Formats: sequence, structure tokens, C-alpha cells
Amino acid sequence: MTAEYQAHGAVAVITLTNPPVNGMNFQTRTAAVECINRALDDASIKAIVITGAGNAFSGGADIKEFNSPKALAEPSLHTLIDVVENSSKPVVAAIHHVCMGGGLELSLGCHYRVATPGTQIALPEVKLGLLPGAGGTQRLPRVVGLELALKMITSGAPELSEKLANTALFDEILTGDCVAGAIAFAEKIADLRPLPKVRNLNVTHPQLQEVLNAARAQAQRGFLKAPLHCVEAIAAAANLPFDEGIQFERQTFYKLVVSPESTALRHAFFAERAASKIPDVPADTPIRSIKSAAVVGAGTMGGGIAMNFANAGIPVVILETKPEALEKGLAIIAKNYQNTRDKGKLSPEKCAERIALISGTLDYNAIGQADIVVEAVFEEMNVKKSVFEKLDEVMRQGAILASNTSTLDLNKIASFTKRPQDVVGMHFFSPANVMKLLEIVRGKETSNEVLASAMALSKKLKKVGVVSGVCDGFIGNRMLEQYIRQAGFLLDEGCLPAQVDSAMEKMGFAMGPFRMSDLAGNDISYAIRKRRAIEKPDMLYSKTADQLCELGRFGQKTGAGWYDYQAGDRTAHPSDLVNQLINDHSKQIGIERRAITDQEITERLIYALVNEAAYILEEGIAHRASDIDMVYLSGYGFPLHLGGPMLYADTVGLAKVVAAIQHYAQGHCGKVWKVAPLLQELAAKEQKFNA
Ligand code: NAI
Repeated sequence: MTAEYQAHGAVAVITLTNPPVNGMNFQTRTAAVECINRALDDASIKAIVITGAGNAFSGGADIKEFNSPKALAEPSLHTLIDVVENSSKPVVAAIHHVCMGGGLELSLGCHYRVATPGTQIALPEVKLGLLPGAGGTQRLPRVVGLELALKMITSGAPELSEKLANTALFDEILTGDCVAGAIAFAEKIADLRPLPKVRNLNVTHPQLQEVLNAARAQAQRGFLKAPLHCVEAIAAAANLPFDEGIQFERQTFYKLVVSPESTALRHAFFAERAASKIPDVPADTPIRSIKSAAVVGAGTMGGGIAMNFANAGIPVVILETKPEALEKGLAIIAKNYQNTRDKGKLSPEKCAERIALISGTLDYNAIGQADIVVEAVFEEMNVKKSVFEKLDEVMRQGAILASNTSTLDLNKIASFTKRPQDVVGMHFFSPANVMKLLEIVRGKETSNEVLASAMALSKKLKKVGVVSGVCDGFIGNRMLEQYIRQAGFLLDEGCLPAQVDSAMEKMGFAMGPFRMSDLAGNDISYAIRKRRAIEKPDMLYSKTADQLCELGRFGQKTGAGWYDYQAGDRTAHPSDLVNQLINDHSKQIGIERRAITDQEITERLIYALVNEAAYILEEGIAHRASDIDMVYLSGYGFPLHLGGPMLYADTVGLAKVVAAIQHYAQGHCGKVWKVAPLLQELAAKEQKFNA
């Protein structure tokens, strides 16, 4: 049973009881229908209240059921809603905390709805590449109006109940206890007839078609297809009789649920949840409480990291070596907050509160009592060594010592302390106060407790935490190196930066590789290549990137990189000089430039990611293929509708990926392609990365 029945005088209260958010799975639907029939059969009952146990009315459908026959098993959500709507006794939805998706659709089938203030109301299906399939697109516009319904359904974003108080969605916003208020309301309306039904209302608007057309245009802007389907279903609500609209909605839902887009978005949804579970770290591992933090280094990353703590309400002290660097860092933080405030995204009070949580020091003794310290100093082992030796000396026992290194060996960094079990990598991405991804790097001696605590902290900081083992570049940057390398070879062979970028952007990447390098700064990878040249002198890569840096073209920050930039403008303009440099380089290395298709560009770049990822999986650097997808979706602008590189490769078919790699291995610098054994093996067995 996942619903409970209780009679309060002449009112039956049916409580959905499927924790954590009363998801409408098969058992819950069955129990709810049974409870309604029981109320209908009991002559002493005059009205019915439906509510949810705990902190939700209902969070909606059970997504885990989508791929199982149980999703369609009767009673379906449609049937439950029909039973409610056709009930001869009035049904009141008592809505509190969370009312989303199928939960909201159920409440729309009720004759009345009362809610407590602060309740989150949403139809978020579009975020999973779907539309609300149980009447939501037909009933919501009938109660909140066309424009608000379009906004809510195409964005999936929640609205607060009190903001919807003046719509026909709610009959009453309650002031006290939700169920008591609903019972009182039910007693009041128990004898009123006919019973009001949302289906009997009409969607009207003085500029109906104009509003719909504007919504269509808006929905077609991105790469996702579901928003346009949502608009068409809402148009059906406006233009067709109710039952035909419901039919249209249902057919569209069945189409979308098997679409690659919805498969990708649902994959991402589950991948994010899976990433927080570490296979060999028990779920009940104790978590260290983090109430205060310190950051060493007030540069680009240190400042952003400190803002993360302040945004989560955790006081943070930043340590620097020189007063000028500290002042500069603190001033940048204050300016960032000010900008957010000026844009109206942060109230003046919140802005002041957050700035007040951040302080600076030049003295290690001032940070010794912090629960966690994150080091973000120069990327040089000697500097890291001096910092970690000092941290070992001053930090209280039990403090977590984290490093934000992007390429250095975390095990070596841990060895500078007498407590390597307390050392962990926390690899933030730039800008650290904005980017969602946080790679949590597990050293060979990092304790389970420290790892679990770092994961818990990532959630508190609203990041997507993904665990990575120790290797050069960890998961994300190690893969990126192969991607960038192929992008360089494409220049040698016949492409120009704008062609490569445009091919990737047409596919849905936030930015192609060259625009991305210009944004990040070409000097960063230049420095890494110089270091690598000593370690691996025979490494193959296109020398165009070095030639670019020798001209001082470091990217946006110098006003010139792969592209030209005008002062104060981030628009990338193709550069004749760079294009000449690329053509000259091809000549120097004796390559006759050829026309290259977008298909070759996208395959070479994405398969370079996939092949390296297969090594990463095989070596146990990443726990699961979906973790790698999460890294790329949340940190590298990989198109959401493709679900990440691994799901994309699975969708293409691994045998095809292997064949393409083998083909490219015959081309220019083809020896850099070596099919990863795991990829080869899965392809041979016709299996997938994401089983
Ligand atoms: P940055 O050069 O902007 O800042 C480093 C700061 O550390 C400077 O303010 C410097 O004065 C300070 N510093 C140097 N030695 C110090 C010491 N002994 N004690 C206290 N402060 C000291 O460098 P950035 O870009 O912030 O990088 C910091 C770390 O973050 C590096 O390990 C880097 O690899 C990593 N990282 C950088 C990313 C980026 O996009 N910039 C992304 C992810 C990680």
C-alpha cells in the first residue's frame, strides 16, 4: 500500500505515502484508486481530500518506471485522474511543499484545490525531453491562462503557490495546517452541485494565435525539440475540444518518451544521481561537518571557490602571501557580487551578507581552525609543497586538506603532509562560482570519510560532484587533450578554426574548440605543452597552437587568439593573419590541404573523447561511463540532447565508432589513434558503455 485512508466525519482523507516525494508509481496509483472507491462506497462520506505524506503533495511520475511495463499498467495516471474527475463526491486536493508533474496533473483532475503558501508548483517534464502526458498541457492553460501555462510547461520551472493565488488553479490559499484547512473547505462545499471540472473551462486569449506563434519561435531557438511539442499541445488545448486535445497530448507523449532526446535527458538525470554514489564507499560513511572554510590563493580560482562557500552560507578566510594580491582578489570578489546585485539577481541584503562571510589574511594561524582548506596557488609542485607542509603544521586534526590542482599528482601533494588520508582533490572549473562541475580527486590514501565528506560538500555548494582517480588531467582535461589534438590536426589538413567551431556548434556544443581556447587562454595549454615536451619529446600535435602563442595571441584576454576581438566585445572575428599562419604551416609540413566535411570534424573530435574515456574507464579512473557523461555535460558544454560522449557513442553504435577510428588512423598523424581495448571489446560483443 502506498496510500492511506482515514475518515474525518463526512470527509475521507486519502494520503499518498510513497517517500520521499510520493511518486505516482503503480502501487501508489492502485492504492489511490482503491481509496477513492472506498470513499464512494461509504454512504457516510460526503467529500474526499487527497494529500501527500511528509514534505510533498506529490513530486510526480516515477521516472524509474518509464522503461518498464509497469508505467503503462492499469490503473495508469490517466485512469486515476479520470476516477477522481468522474467521482460523484467532490474531491479536494490538499497541496503543500511540492506539487509537480503527475502530482499537479492529479490535482487538476480534482474538483477543488487548496494549497499552503510556499508550495512549488511545476510541470517539469520538458526537462526530461517530454511533455506532461496526463492532461497537464490541456488542463493547466484552462486554469492559469495561456501565457503562464506556456511559460510553466515549456520551461519546466516552478512557481510558488501564492503567486498563482489569483488564478483558477487554487480555490483557497490556506493559512494554517494543510489537511485541517482542506477538511474544513471540503465540509463547506460538500453539497454543492454541479461539481466543477477543469475540462469544462476554455482557453481564451485576445491574441491567441500571436501568442502561440511567439511561443513556437521561442521554443525553436535551442537544440531541444520537446519545448515545441509542449507549445503544440497547449495550442491543441486552445484549438480543439478537450478530449481531442487529450488524445493529441497522449500521442505526442508516446512519441517523445522513445525519442533520443528524452533518452539522453533521462540518462543525464539518473547519471547525476548515480555520480553521488561511490561503489566502494558505504552509504553510511560518516560525514565531517563543514561549518568554516579557508582558501589559499586569491587568484582566478581562489576567489571563485571562496564565493562558493559564501553562497552556501559557510564563512571563508582567504590566505595570500602579499597584501596587494589579497586586496586585488577581495576586490574582484566584491565586484562580482556587485555585478550580480546590479543585474537584480541578488538582493542588496544577500549581497552584503555574502561579502561579509569572506575575509582575508596573510597569516596561516588565522586559518588553522577551519574545517576545510582548499589550496588554489600556482600550478607548480614546489609551491604546492611549501603550502601543504605549512597546512600540515597549522590545520587542526580532522580538517580536510583539498587541492584545486588541475594537472599535478595528488598523491605527491598528499605526501607533503603527515596525513595523506585527509588530502583530496577538489578540481573546480573556471569561473568557479558559475561552473557546475566539481571533480573530486581520490588519492591513493584519501580516506572514505574525507571522500564522502567532499561529495556531500559538493552538493551543498550546488555542484555536480564526480569522483576521479589520479592521472594527468583527471577525467575531463585528459579527454579534452585528445579532442584539442584532433582539432589541431584538422587545421594542418585543411580546416580553419571557424569551420571546426561551426561544425561543433551546429551539433549543439556550447562552443567549438578554438573559441573555447580563446576564452580559457591559449597560454595555459601552451605552458602545459612546454612541460610535456620535456616529459614526452616525441608527442605529436599540430604546432599551429605554439606559433599562435609565439605571436602573443593568448585569446580574448589579449584581444587576439585564434580569432580577432574588438575591445570590450567577445565576438570572435576570423583572422586573416591566423588563417595565413595555418595555410603556411600546412605547406611547411608538406600537406596538401583538402576539403573536410563537418561529419569528419565532429567524428574525429567526439571519438577522440570517447576513445580516451574508454581508457579512463578501463583504468578505473572513472567509476562508470555515466560519470564521464556527467563531467562533459556539466563542465564542458557537451550538448545535453546527446546525453554525453559515452551515451552518444552508444547511440551511434560502438562498432561504428571503432570502424571510424580505424579509418582515421590511416590519415595524417594517424598513429595517435589506438582503439582502447575496452572499446574494442564492447564493440565486438555488441555491448554499450552505459549498460
Ligand atoms: P592564479 O595565478 O590566478 O592565482 C594563484 C594565486 O595564488 C595568486 O593570487 C598568488 O598570489 C597566490 N599564491 C601563489 N603562491 C602562494 C602561496 N604560497 N601562498 C598563498 N598564495 C599563493 O591561478 P589560478 O588560475 O587561480 O590557478 C590556481 C590553481 O587552480 C592551479 O593549481 C590551477 O592549475 C588550478 N586550476 C585553474 C583553473 C583555471 O581555469 N584557471 C581551472 C581549474 C584549476
